[in-house]
Amino acid sequence: MNPLHLPLVDAAPNEPPPRAPDHSRTGLIDAHGRTIHDLRLSVTDRCNFRCTYCMKPNERFLPKQSLLSMDEYLQIVNATMALGVTKLRITGGEPTLYPDLDAFIAAVGDLGLRDIAMTTNGWSLDIHRARQWLRDGLGRLTFSLDTLRDDRMAAITLSTTPVQTVLDSVETARAAGFPRPKLNVVMQRDVNDDEAVAFATLARDRDLDVRFIEFMPLDAGRHWQRDAVVSEAETKKVIEAAFELVPTEATHAAETSSNFSFATSSSGSIGFVSPVTRPFCGACNRLRITAEGMVRPCLFANTEWDVRPALRSGEPHAVARFLQDATWAKKAGHGIGDADFVQPDRGMRAIGG
Ligand code: 5AD
Ligand code: SF4
Repeated sequence: MNPLHLPLVDAAPNEPPPRAPDHSRTGLIDAHGRTIHDLRLSVTDRCNFRCTYCMKPNERFLPKQSLLSMDEYLQIVNATMALGVTKLRITGGEPTLYPDLDAFIAAVGDLGLRDIAMTTNGWSLDIHRARQWLRDGLGRLTFSLDTLRDDRMAAITLSTTPVQTVLDSVETARAAGFPRPKLNVVMQRDVNDDEAVAFATLARDRDLDVRFIEFMPLDAGRHWQRDAVVSEAETKKVIEAAFELVPTEATHAAETSSNFSFATSSSGSIGFVSPVTRPFCGACNRLRITAEGMVRPCLFANTEWDVRPALRSGEPHAVARFLQDATWAKKAGHGIGDADFVQPDRGMRAIGG
């Protein structure tokens, strides 16, 4: 698996990552032969929802002064672009709570990144703001919505936001000119697993791209159990009893979802993101950076590295070298099914989706 047969050392947190063997190679490459093209950058750890599969109900946010400045986020994006990153996903927490979001989108748009996307919980979306984001270079919006019932919405998100508010935000995105909005649905046993057909119907009737995501062990409350995972196979079977699905071609090799359109309609599509039953680690092209500047080579990494010393060193190539080192140390796979799997301390909110 390790093409150069070098030892992969796990560093202690806050130590710099072990050095990659060759900084003169231009890209962000790891020891398993994968190349990073996709940066997931969290711009805030704050969220106004407290989804139970993500956060603990009483979880505290970081003090504002621990977060990176906008200039530092931009330095990171710049450095990764020079190393071959073509795609940025702006994440959180809830990125719309980041006070400098509009300026940040405009600034990354100016850098000339080809593909900029953002994930939001849809609690609020103003059409003028959305239009400006689009003009500034944000190309795609993904919304998180796990139920179409308000009682469940309250139980899942621990918020009072009604389902309709999120659906209105989705329509606002479309009216602002964004392409077919994507809806992420995390399926959980006995929580929302009876809503698969309702979401597929929504996808078809409202021309949405609904992605069913398997529940991952990334809940800060550590309630995840294998039994709570509703597999892609289960969800797909239920939907196929109601609709004839037609597989659509993957648009790129690192596509994490398997996607389908409806045989009887050109409106809408569905997809399955199945990290538990169909891991896509072998094709992973992602690197994640948290709002306070911790580089996480994998969602499930138990080791992460602090980019701040490199950012603040004043040394021109320090960030690039650091990111090359951190990338080199990416593990081959998440190992969720392994006996020695250890759930990371951070929940999804504190990582960035
Ligand atoms: N398992 C699967 N998906 C999760 N998300 C957050 N926590 C989990 C989890 N434990 C999803 C959110 C959001 C995306 C970024 O990640 O619903 O849509
Ligand atoms: Fe917030 Fe998203 Fe986590 Fe829900 S899943 S608590 S919306 S960060």
